[in-house]
Amino acid sequence: MTDANKYKILAKYYDKVYELKDYEGESEILKQLIKQYKKSDGKELLDIACGTGAHLTYLKKIFTCTGTDLNVEMIDVAKKKHPEVHFEVADMSELNLGKKFDVITCLFSSIAYIISKERLSKTIKVFADHLKPGGIVLIEQWLDKAIFRAGEPHITTYKNDDLIITRVNTSEVKGEISIFDMHYLVAERGKAVNHFVEHHELAMYPTELLQSLMVENNLVTTIFQDDPKFDRGLLIGVKK
Ligand SMILES: C[S@@+](CC[C@H](N)C(=O)[O-])C[C@H]1O[C@@H](n2cnc3c(N)ncnc32)[C@H](O)[C@@H]1O
Repeated sequence: MTDANKYKILAKYYDKVYELKDYEGESEILKQLIKQYKKSDGKELLDIACGTGAHLTYLKKIFTCTGTDLNVEMIDVAKKKHPEVHFEVADMSELNLGKKFDVITCLFSSIAYIISKERLSKTIKVFADHLKPGGIVLIEQWLDKAIFRAGEPHITTYKNDDLIITRVNTSEVKGEISIFDMHYLVAERGKAVNHFVEHHELAMYPTELLQSLMVENNLVTTIFQDDPKFDRGLLIGVKK
């Protein structure tokens, strides 16, 4: 499965699978952190790996938003929800929008899909290059290797009268990479049950590596972990 094919089938069910995720509460914290740290004057926000644009629902109330994601199906869902927002399909390590922003977000551990250090280094440079002086980037990390419970079985379910979605998975670890085969069973009224598997590999980079790449790119860094909503760690960088 290529990276661009991940989330391809899931896209139409994504918001249901994550219906209990507190996107509104997270966005409130993001807004407070932006207010606290941002030094540039503008309100241009870029959400990289925006998925279906779930955070944008709340962020667009105070920012002029742009969203990018590798997956065209996720962007199609986001466009339907936010016709006023500009979206582009792009790999975050290759992004070049020819424009600079006051705020960049990269949330829900999307950065961890960049699984080589060379591409990670390129990606952090891309983020810095898209920031105005005094602009802020907020990157939500993936789990630290020290606390990752490899092999643990997980189940997630969604249910309404016409649709049931079940996702089960275990995981394994190879070096710094956590590996998942997510098995989905989707039962939709009047249709045959659909089973599909999505393979995901996410790098468990040490915070210090991300921070040192940010510093190399002229970003003054700090880490926010004070709220359980961001207990994976939210790295904040402010462009000098
Ligand atoms: C866990 S989802 C998070 C989506 C959204 N930020 C949210 O909070 O719901 C991860 C997203 O990262 C995107 N993604 C994975 N690799 C990417 C890459 N190299 N460049 C841009 N987006 C990527 C996927 O398509 C997916 O939409």
